[in-house]
Amino acid sequence: MKKLFIFSIGLFISSIIFSQKFEGLALTPPMGWNSWNKFACDVSEDLIKKMADVMVSSGMKDAGYKYIVIDDCWQIGRDSSGNIIPDPKRFPSGMKALADYIHSKGLKFGLYSDAGMKTCAGRPGSRGYEYQDARTYANWGVDYLKYDWCSTGTQNAPASYKLMSDAIYKAGRPVVLSICEWGNNEPWKWGAEIGHLWRTTGDIYHCYDCILNHGTWNQWGWTVILDMQHKLRKYNGPDHWNDADMMEVGNGMSIAEDRAHFTLWCMLATPLMAGNDIANMTNEVQEILTNKEAIAINQDPKGIQGLRYLYTDNLEIWVKPLQNDELAFCFFNRSDEPQDINFKWDKYRVEDGISKTDIYLNKTNYKVRDIWAMKDLGTTKNATLKKTIPPHDVVLIRLSK
Ligand code: GAL
Repeated sequence: MKKLFIFSIGLFISSIIFSQKFEGLALTPPMGWNSWNKFACDVSEDLIKKMADVMVSSGMKDAGYKYIVIDDCWQIGRDSSGNIIPDPKRFPSGMKALADYIHSKGLKFGLYSDAGMKTCAGRPGSRGYEYQDARTYANWGVDYLKYDWCSTGTQNAPASYKLMSDAIYKAGRPVVLSICEWGNNEPWKWGAEIGHLWRTTGDIYHCYDCILNHGTWNQWGWTVILDMQHKLRKYNGPDHWNDADMMEVGNGMSIAEDRAHFTLWCMLATPLMAGNDIANMTNEVQEILTNKEAIAINQDPKGIQGLRYLYTDNLEIWVKPLQNDELAFCFFNRSDEPQDINFKWDKYRVEDGISKTDIYLNKTNYKVRDIWAMKDLGTTKNATLKKTIPPHDVVLIRLSK
């Protein structure tokens, strides 16, 4: 009896320790493109192939983007054996051929499903078909699964996501699992064992600070979402990311707002999933999305979510500790008027318990690099950063040794 008890305890502990997730697939925040924000249900094989082509030709692949993710509405039903069927009108060559095409460009392929009976757009969900769907995805060559939370009724969230995670693991093909239950069940507390990223909020909208009330749910401008991230800092890190949602850069905001949105997503160390029509973006939007120095801040191997270090109603100063005791500073003018900054580096100390950072800026003479201006601004010693920041815009600085 005693032996059986010890054996059961051992089994229980090992099932917790040896989680069934493919480890190491997202050591830095995933980067890619997702169809939903711009195209919603208007997805097709032609569109997705075009996006893959442009991801390469626009320099996005070279800048680090790799996943092409088809969101909701690719699926139309199930056959008599329960196999999921892609919409044959929109995806006439099938998903395997599309995955092969994406892979031939050196990119990775992502799909969307839902833990409930139906997806949010009313297509078939994976409930009851988890193992079968995971096998299908593996056969097609899927590398990334965004798994949503519509029509889940009284389902238990950790158990539902664990079920799909186990199914993926059993199917044998490494797949990044993107948990998308909008932060309803605090996925930051259980998601790291099961998936690689989890949405922290409901859906983003392409505006600066609006709130769109749909009755039972809201959509939020990116600054509203930004304000919801702070309390989650300690949960962010390599292979398990707080996901502040796909970006709205290039979807109709001003260029300052696009730049600020992108910069803050870099500071948060959150996934960088473009959500615009990359085949028809302006040069300015392309330059934002492909700025390698900004991306390097997002992709810093330490994976520390930046902190709002100092702020007033008008101006926020964000800091992100980077590897090698380097730092990124983002000065964000939240107001509708230009704001002056006079920032004397030597006066400041960056102390952060979560990342165990304690840096006195007067002790190291850092090189100052203005990332959007692409200019070196000397060093920090006895120096003051003087700038006027236009409304809703940012100045992004990297301090390097
Ligand atoms: C939402 C999700 C969106 C998008 C949409 C598709 O639940 O948050 O990002 O995937 O469903 O119907």
